[in-house]
Amino acid sequence: MVIITAGIPRKPGMSRDDLINTNAGIMKNVTQEIVKYSPKAILIIVSNPLDAMCHVAFETSGFPKSRVIGMAGVLDSARFRSFIAMELNVSVESTHAFVLGGHGDTMVPLPRYSTVAGIPITELMSQERIDALVDRTRNGGAEIVKLLKTGSAYYAPSAAAVEMTESILKDKKKILPCAAYLEGEYGCNKLFMGVPVKLGANGIEEVIEIKLTDTEQAALAHSADAVQELKDVLKKLA
Ligand code: 2OP
Repeated sequence: MVIITAGIPRKPGMSRDDLINTNAGIMKNVTQEIVKYSPKAILIIVSNPLDAMCHVAFETSGFPKSRVIGMAGVLDSARFRSFIAMELNVSVESTHAFVLGGHGDTMVPLPRYSTVAGIPITELMSQERIDALVDRTRNGGAEIVKLLKTGSAYYAPSAAAVEMTESILKDKKKILPCAAYLEGEYGCNKLFMGVPVKLGANGIEEVIEIKLTDTEQAALAHSADAVQELKDVLKKLA
């Protein structure tokens, strides 16, 4: 397995998307070397802008889609879980959260599927508080960048990459939100998007499709548009 974190991090005030030109070049070079020396590797992409960098690695490597996986949903869900735990004063270990979509301002935290001991948070807090936690989750990366000033988050992203790696190396078949190359699932075509997947010895072994409400589906479509825009920027760079 190869976990790719190479690239410049953002500085306060920058969005993940501002990194695209520099990091696309770095990602391409790194991927070419991996293909040369480890042609059977499973890739976990961590560099930003995440979904766009997954496209670069996927296209450069020519690997099957099961072997190119983006780390974002596990991190974003971990943030959402922490905020839920803090809000309700419960152990973070009793929480579960789902965040779908691109790893950017348009990500889609799903409160209906986010639970405390199996109870949806929609039963446990007001819509106003849920909205505030969703908002903080969307801006969690920027919050850390602002505090660190000279770099971006590293502890939570690495913990997330480790969880994904362990599920693959030990063939645990955990269901985790990851960026996966979609071909029709969730109405997205030829696009990397954060969705629940099964991670086992073969990499992505299954994309789990859950039924979304119209509002959730619209939010996901909006997020897909943002990823598509970045993909179009990449095309111009090529
Ligand atoms: C984050 O959300 C670095 O994108 C990463 O913190």
